[in-house]
Amino acid sequence: MRVEGLSVVVNGKTLLEGVSFSIKKGEKVAIMGSTGSGKSTLLRALCGFMPYKGKILYDNLDLKELDLSSLRSKIGYLTQESFILSGTIRENLLIAKPGAKDEELWKALQLSVCDFVKSLEEEVDEENRLLSGGEAQRLALARIFLKEPEILLLDEATSALDANTENTVLKNLFESFPESVFIVVAHRFSNILACDRAILLKDGRVVFDGDPKEAIEIFLSEHLQV
Ligand SMILES: Nc1ncnc2c1ncn2[C@@H]1O[C@H](COP(=O)(O)OP(=O)(O)O)[C@@H](O)[C@H]1O
Ligand SMILES: [Mg+2]
Repeated sequence: MRVEGLSVVVNGKTLLEGVSFSIKKGEKVAIMGSTGSGKSTLLRALCGFMPYKGKILYDNLDLKELDLSSLRSKIGYLTQESFILSGTIRENLLIAKPGAKDEELWKALQLSVCDFVKSLEEEVDEENRLLSGGEAQRLALARIFLKEPEILLLDEATSALDANTENTVLKNLFESFPESVFIVVAHRFSNILACDRAILLKDGRVVFDGDPKEAIEIFLSEHLQV
């Protein structure tokens, strides 16, 4: 995929400006930057959720010319807030892959470390079992394992997990989808270092694009200043 001169302006405020990069199949890219630097805006724009100037190309096809349903079938987009259907675990999973066998559902639950699930019939809603933030995130991640997207956009999608579980889930994602593009907004350095590359944003602009270790050094040098 390729982004060229991407700018996002909302109500006269510039949220992204002149963002360009390209990502090869199978490449894992961390997006870094302090709060408000434009990380979430970038991922939303890549999904087609934001008005923008510039170009967003998937397999050389312009996002503006792609029909939204085919785009949505390629992309797996998760944020901090997971969408949970009021219904059973099975119903929650089948929206990602209608007709999937129970065996597949259990496999996905295992890969996303949903060890709190004892039965696919379990109802998850406010009356029966209100999921914690971390449980909801893992259930949403289980859907990603079923969906098998070509492009994964994870915006702090594992933020409520403990460090070990987060590492395991990320490793499982990387191993399950070696050909997919990963764009990951993460804060823990271990996750950034697990990526091939890091893009550092500042005030909506790319200030570094390269080695994750170097990106962390730059980030730290800016944030440790007093
Ligand atoms: N829809 C919007 N309208 C106006 N301002 C927005 C909108 N979305 C985000 N912003 C602003 O854009 C900036 C970048 O936000 P965001 O992309 O969420 O940053 P990050 O994810 O890096 O913390 C922030 O200043 C935020 O307040
Ligand atoms: Mg954000």
